[in-house]
Amino acid sequence: MKIAKTITELKTCLAEIGKDKTIGFVPTMGYLHDGHLSLINEARSQNDVTVVSIFVNPTQFAPGEDLDAYPRDFDRDSRLAEAAGTDLLFFPDPGEIYPAGASTFVEVEGEVTRKLCGQSRPAHFKGVTTVVNILFNLIQPTTAYFGQKDAQQVAVIKKLVRDLHLPIQIVVGPIIREADGLALSSRNVFLSPEQRSQALVLSQSLAAAKALYQSGEGRVKTLKDQIVNHINTMPLAVIDYVDILDFETLANIETITSPALAAVAVRFGNTRLIDNIILD
Ligand code: PAJ
Repeated sequence: MKIAKTITELKTCLAEIGKDKTIGFVPTMGYLHDGHLSLINEARSQNDVTVVSIFVNPTQFAPGEDLDAYPRDFDRDSRLAEAAGTDLLFFPDPGEIYPAGASTFVEVEGEVTRKLCGQSRPAHFKGVTTVVNILFNLIQPTTAYFGQKDAQQVAVIKKLVRDLHLPIQIVVGPIIREADGLALSSRNVFLSPEQRSQALVLSQSLAAAKALYQSGEGRVKTLKDQIVNHINTMPLAVIDYVDILDFETLANIETITSPALAAVAVRFGNTRLIDNIILD
């Protein structure tokens, strides 16, 4: 596995790969877990070359969020990335991606970025789309891989690619979970044992809502109320949002008539966890 820390090194590695190869690209912020590795595996199985980036992107964190505390372990990450079959690992400093004076942003406007995480983290997706666009420009992948765990991010990236006519295919991987149902996240390491056990309420409340939906309940308010009540049985859980929206557009709906996304964000102390399930 090659490691590029600068854009010059990245360009040299990409030139060696040549233009005739398909490139599968997995952007990450590191502290890799099986969710990331499943995307790397998918990329490897579908492409000639697999490129992974590790970059804790400052522009998608608001002041006061966990940019400095975000977990980092490059040695461990590079071992895991190599074992998963990564050919090229891009690990830039912030100054490489955002040279002094950089002031250009790429922003997807509208409902898709205003809802859910866009409400509690208003500048978040602007940072995500800016860095993803920069990484796409630098790496020029054939296909890029994203996880359904961040369902809204997937919707936003798909819109970015469509609106800017980027010649990149987007593939979405399923949510990878712990054996007990907790969705894997780099932030799970921050949970105390008590918070960790109460955090199961995210996946459990979503599974219960899906069961209720499958038993014939299509009213969004009823389904949402059930999720809220379920989460509120856990004393350490503080709800950021619970919502059920149209799966494609993230538009509000009153009853489910086509695939819908049930999504939750819940805080345990300083740690904010998200999860979702598709109701179809
Ligand atoms: P990060 O949180 O590191 O996630 C990198 C990719 O892994 C994302 O596509 C995310 O959806 C996916 N992922 C995370 N947890 C997962 C899980 N449990 N199962 C399946 N996939 C999972 O998302 C980001 O980084 C950043 O916003 C980024 C796109 C890199 C831009 O900075």
